[in-house]
Amino acid sequence: MEEIKLDISRVYNFISKEEIKNLENETLQAQKTLYEGSGDGSGFLGWLRLPSEITEQQIELIEEVAQGITPNTDILVVIGIGGSYLGARAVNDALANNFSHLLKGAKPPQMLFAGHNIGEDYMHELLELLDDYNYSIVVISKSGTTTEPALAFRILKDHLVEKIGKEEAGKRIVAVTDAERGALRQLADEEGYKSFVIPDNVGGRFSVFTPVGLIPLAICGVNIRQLIEGAKEMSQRCSPDTLFEENPAAQYAATRNALYRSGKKIEIMVNYHNKLHFVSEWWKQLYGESEGKEGKGIFPASVDNSTDLHSMGQYIQEGERILFETVISVEKANHQIKVPANEANLDQLNYLASDPIDHVNKMAELGTILAHLDGGVPNIRISLPMLNAFYLGQLLYFFENACGISGYMLGINPFNQPGVEAYKKNMFALLEKPGFEKETAQIKSRR
Ligand code: PA5
Repeated sequence: MEEIKLDISRVYNFISKEEIKNLENETLQAQKTLYEGSGDGSGFLGWLRLPSEITEQQIELIEEVAQGITPNTDILVVIGIGGSYLGARAVNDALANNFSHLLKGAKPPQMLFAGHNIGEDYMHELLELLDDYNYSIVVISKSGTTTEPALAFRILKDHLVEKIGKEEAGKRIVAVTDAERGALRQLADEEGYKSFVIPDNVGGRFSVFTPVGLIPLAICGVNIRQLIEGAKEMSQRCSPDTLFEENPAAQYAATRNALYRSGKKIEIMVNYHNKLHFVSEWWKQLYGESEGKEGKGIFPASVDNSTDLHSMGQYIQEGERILFETVISVEKANHQIKVPANEANLDQLNYLASDPIDHVNKMAELGTILAHLDGGVPNIRISLPMLNAFYLGQLLYFFENACGISGYMLGINPFNQPGVEAYKKNMFALLEKPGFEKETAQIKSRR
């Protein structure tokens, strides 16, 4: 069977094979901490075995609810922020047609987002659009109290009720939240919305294989069984029973930590496939929120190539030498278009005639990797046989598993996010939220 492959051979000019091998014990110790649940944040390890533990009954329930929503829905508005929306967006964008919103004829519901920003114009334009479409809402918040999604849900719920009436609106809203706590749970119970639970022991950024990711994806036509199957397959490959050299998560965690310790402080996730933009955004949140703590952590950045070769390419080639790259490469395009021959050849492209466009893309990829290596940027490469739900499931689980190991190698708790609270405290003080009177008085002098 074809599978995702990790190639670390292009880091050996910067750190030797031995340096990575020397991290074997440390990596396996971090992996042991993860699997035994003996480290900090061990209450949040539900994601680790999730792909094998999810039951047929749970999948059927998600599919059943999705089947009830899909036929009446042109647009699915997913309300959530951070880990509560990025997983669904990453998978949906990777699999949906680039122009699906403009395609004629029957098509799955389009996934749009709200509550991931506080843009007033964004909300206005979304409401204007929704006036003209049949839409449903999946509102996702583990805490049930996050300001951005709560604000968006308040507005969109009112809009939907006004548009189709309370009873019908109630059938078009699905809530995904904590089993017992939080305002959203209370609201869902009181209003009788269909609801799903985010398990207590799964943090937002590790929740893509829970209903957080699965319910919006199922409504929008993604084969969630294949996604889970891919994750399950990868969870077997990443298990502690696999040898260090053959375990992709352990190898990735060891390599990026070896690079970090050699002064490479920034990891750039690079793709050569525009549909992977939000996979990088999901990855940035996963690694940024998990690792950036206590003055430590690799800074996760991303570029979409070849687009960004014409913007960030200069810096990557010749700027500060604190970078390494991880390229996600899709081996085989799902469609083929060959470069046409042209008699006049004014654009001088006849040397490419009959080549598939993807061949040009692959040579841009290889040429860039080699140029960046010459410029002092080590390269890790992850190749996917093709873009489908199965390989995406593999990829996302691989990153989650490696993140847990890597976080423990850094010596931090990969499963909390204490730093996220600082802005909230200031924002609430500035907004004069009840209960923040002392902070409001303090912050006024800084305005
Ligand atoms: O990964 C995380 O834990 C965060 O990004 C959360 O998902 C995000 O802050 C949203 O939180 P909540 O789901 O409680 O609204």
